[in-house]
Amino acid sequence: MSLATIIDGKEASARLKSAISASVAALKAKHNIVPGLATVLVGEDPASQVYVRSKQKTATAAGMNSFQHDLPASTSQADLLALVRKLNADPAVNGILVQLPLPKQIDQFAIITAIDPAKDVDGLHPQSAGRLLAGGDSLVSCTPMGCLMLIADVAPNIAGKNAVVLGRSILVGKPVSLLLLNENCTVTMAHSKTQDLPSLCRTADILVAAVGRPEMVKGDWVKPGAIVIDVGINRIPTPDGKGRLVGDVDYAAASKIAGAITPVPGGVGPMTIACLMLNTLKAACQQHGVTDVVVPTRLPSR
Ligand code: GUN
Repeated sequence: MSLATIIDGKEASARLKSAISASVAALKAKHNIVPGLATVLVGEDPASQVYVRSKQKTATAAGMNSFQHDLPASTSQADLLALVRKLNADPAVNGILVQLPLPKQIDQFAIITAIDPAKDVDGLHPQSAGRLLAGGDSLVSCTPMGCLMLIADVAPNIAGKNAVVLGRSILVGKPVSLLLLNENCTVTMAHSKTQDLPSLCRTADILVAAVGRPEMVKGDWVKPGAIVIDVGINRIPTPDGKGRLVGDVDYAAASKIAGAITPVPGGVGPMTIACLMLNTLKAACQQHGVTDVVVPTRLPSR
């Protein structure tokens, strides 16, 4: 029984971050511009705190400016909107990331739509989503972009392939489907009401799982040789109480059948942050009309 190629997201993201750092240095040397990323965290959710700190650290390591705004969980929608507007107007800030989820008293959609689309490094503004749909250049959500880069790294030409995307979220399922369609895949978007999911998945040359259900995709759902991209990050209980992270795919079983597969952790996750840096670099270049600095569109070769 052959074992799949393990798609190493940590190694891939290191390659991308190294290219981004070089471009950030070139932007400073040629134009005296340092990209700035503002992150906004409302409340004290421990997982969100870890994610936001990691985004700040990565930005600083890439040579960018990082501006962190920590607000109490009781923050009103009006106060958060006022901060977003201030960041929209601040020329030192090229990218704005408001960490989700937000506390209940705040309308998430109202906040996302208040972000200047030119600074929407999360790619969640309806204008960014609409441009992706219409085929224009846009800031694309970081996790979907990371998925596509990992796929392109193992399979440079995927035109005509059958892609099945499990999940239809605005954060992952919908944008990843559009990106695969833009690469001329035949895309099927599956969800909780889809009939006979195992049979459908077995038609997939490329299978992207983004449903948030631990190990839902079984080994015998995978077509031999398929590329399997696991976006799920689920913590399951263990006897020692610490819990264990697993994806949406039964990795042990699927890795015996797939041609290439992302592990969890260490697959898609590291690419998400690297793509946020990429979007911040791209936003800074666009805002300043800079065209002589390389903004990578795929992973640099090994
Ligand atoms: N929370 C979990 N994932 C994300 C993300 O990609 N962007 C933001 N803003 N918040 C998140």
